[in-house]
Amino acid sequence: MKILVLGASGLTGSAILRALQAEGHSVSGTCRTASDPALFPFDLEEPQAIVPLLERIRPDVVVSCLRGEFTRQLEAHRLLAQFLYQHHGKLLYLSTANVFDGDLSRPHYEGDSPCSDSTYGQFKIACEALLQARLGQDLIILRPPEIWGLDCPRLHSLTQRLRAGSSLQTYENLSVNYAVDTQIAQWIVFILEHGLRGIFHVGTRDISDYTAFLERLAEGRSLPKPRFDIERNEIPRYQAVLPGRQEIPARLQISVGDVLRYLTSAPAL
Ligand SMILES: NC(=O)c1ccc[n+]([C@@H]2O[C@H](COP(=O)([O-])OP(=O)(O)OC[C@H]3O[C@@H](n4cnc5c(N)ncnc54)[C@H](OP(=O)(O)O)[C@@H]3O)[C@@H](O)[C@H]2O)c1
Repeated sequence: MKILVLGASGLTGSAILRALQAEGHSVSGTCRTASDPALFPFDLEEPQAIVPLLERIRPDVVVSCLRGEFTRQLEAHRLLAQFLYQHHGKLLYLSTANVFDGDLSRPHYEGDSPCSDSTYGQFKIACEALLQARLGQDLIILRPPEIWGLDCPRLHSLTQRLRAGSSLQTYENLSVNYAVDTQIAQWIVFILEHGLRGIFHVGTRDISDYTAFLERLAEGRSLPKPRFDIERNEIPRYQAVLPGRQEIPARLQISVGDVLRYLTSAPAL
């Protein structure tokens, strides 16, 4: 089985590439700006350039972790789905918890219908639908909430802001769940090796208050105590995609406590 990771130089894509390689899979990846000679260059400036790339690599499975301008992403994914349909391939697509940001009244499970108010969430819903229409059962959708990693922009920015004495933006009465790069990578390996299909909400099985998580993270990394700019909201809101798929074993399920332990396991750079 030949696997191609689109966006393999990014936070999640690089973790997925490493995990698949560690399991002995034949895997290649793309980057746009990263200067990694082991990766194929691919830039959404020319979405159609995906076709010769696919014809050259001939992957059986593609994992899409791309970012970029939405219209160009849609075009590249349309061409990708067409190629995979013609070659009986499979696609694992990284969507987002934002497909539910139009209904923050409760956490969401895989069976819920997406409903988004944001341009980003609506784009991801459109891309899910476009891929689904072409690939059907051969499309696997993963919807992560906020993704964290030991080397992620979010953690670097938090560290810099706190050290500079800057305040952090937060939201009253907001509960969320989290994902980490390595968890998503392990789930993808498991999903592929066990032939699972459908939609997966990949994140912690529990939720946390948004502000409390930032406080615990800062404390765990011995950073200055955060000062917050708090957006007030009286009504409790949830931006959480909870994992409901029974096929994912307990050893791959994580809690918010596990995320904090992971993120505080290395000293702040
Ligand atoms: N991070 C989160 O909290 C989060 C949460 C939910 C869902 N997601 C989704 O998960 C996926 C991966 O997110 P991530 O945070 O891991 O992404 P990331 O770190 O920003 O990496 C994005 C990847 O896409 C490539 N890329 C960016 N712009 C491109 C362009 N114009 N043309 C071609 N390639 C381009 C990057 O290449 P270079 O690095 O070489 O430029 C990189 O390999 C995305 O689809 C995102 O929407 C992310």
